[in-house]
Amino acid sequence: RKHHLAVIGGDGIGPDVTAAALTAVRAAAGKFGFAVDTTEFDLGAEHFLRTGVVLDDPAVEKLREHDAILLGAVGDPRVAPGILERGLIVALRVAFRQSVNVRPVRLYPGVESPVKGVTPENCDLVVLRENTEGLYAGGGSTTHAGTPHAVALQNSVTTVAATTEIVEFAFRLAQRRRRRVTLCHKTNILVHAGQLWQDVVDEVATRYSDVEHDYVHADAMCLHLPTNPGRFDVVVTDNLFGDIISDLGATVQGGLGVAASANHNPTGSAPSMFEPVHGSAPDIAGRGWANPAAAVLSAALCLATLGERDAALALEAAAASVLAELPALAGPDMGATTEELGRRIADRVTTV
Ligand code: NAI
Ligand code: MG
Repeated sequence: RKHHLAVIGGDGIGPDVTAAALTAVRAAAGKFGFAVDTTEFDLGAEHFLRTGVVLDDPAVEKLREHDAILLGAVGDPRVAPGILERGLIVALRVAFRQSVNVRPVRLYPGVESPVKGVTPENCDLVVLRENTEGLYAGGGSTTHAGTPHAVALQNSVTTVAATTEIVEFAFRLAQRRRRRVTLCHKTNILVHAGQLWQDVVDEVATRYSDVEHDYVHADAMCLHLPTNPGRFDVVVTDNLFGDIISDLGATVQGGLGVAASANHNPTGSAPSMFEPVHGSAPDIAGRGWANPAAAVLSAALCLATLGERDAALALEAAAASVLAELPALAGPDMGATTEELGRRIADRVTTV
């Protein structure tokens, strides 16, 4: 078996954590008997500043030929906010129809949650965020901009097609987990979009009689997720609420150094993309203080998607075991550099 991975290291700490993740992936490939070949893509701030182009069609088509994409992070203080993030990440999510953003929220043993009472036993859920619609896709307009009479309209789009795709994904995932799907929305206020989501969940649920489902308002979720994470197994939600509650989830699980994500194309018609939740961290770039665990855990999601389940579990276990022995999760007190941690996780893959 051979997997062709496209690698976009990107900016800041992105290339460092991605290189560490690849070290671990190669170790897993060696142990579990598959091959990985990688194509590095020079995309991100340097490429943009040099060429004036964020992402052109030939690059998109070349990326499309791969089985999956590993992304570090993009974003640079020299480039206006949004140009790289929207021009690259959002563009790829749309071009490759990566409609499901997967964000596991799991507290690994030895990692401390800032929230009292959260333990590895009660914190193991997955947030699924719709990645292409809602308020993030609606466009809009502003009249009388810059005046005291300015009015901004921001549209939100919700379709049965995209909603069904992610809700189906949620029920299938729940079947392999603790068999519970929670819809998170604001159906009492956002009545049009909310009703559509609820109708889709009710319809899909008839086909998965072995999975329970319930509903929690997005604001209430901000109370329940930190205080009672064990209540949740698979949480499915729209683009905006998913952005917010998955960052809340990242905090609950110990912070950005641990939070992994996948941008999943559920049909397999184009590659999915795997990236740590954190950004390019320009404040610590180049110092070796970045924790590569989130990138390694994202690579584990990638291997699972490519059908390498044993390798994915080994990679996750190796990252968790190394995380547990760190005196600090990031910064000068972490006790090892990004690169050293990549090697340590790689070594651990062969022994866990
Ligand atoms: P950030 O996630 O880059 O950093 C936030 C804080 O967490 C910083 O203090 C950073 O040092 C720390 N941090 C992040 N990842 C870490 C790691 N692996 N190990 C140790 N410490 C870590 O978010 P920020 O500062 O808001 O954004 C920086 C740039 O990244 C911006 O240009 C932003 O737009 C971009 N960004 C890109 C994302 C992506 O590529 N998907 C996601 C989030 C932000
Ligand atoms: Mg976010």
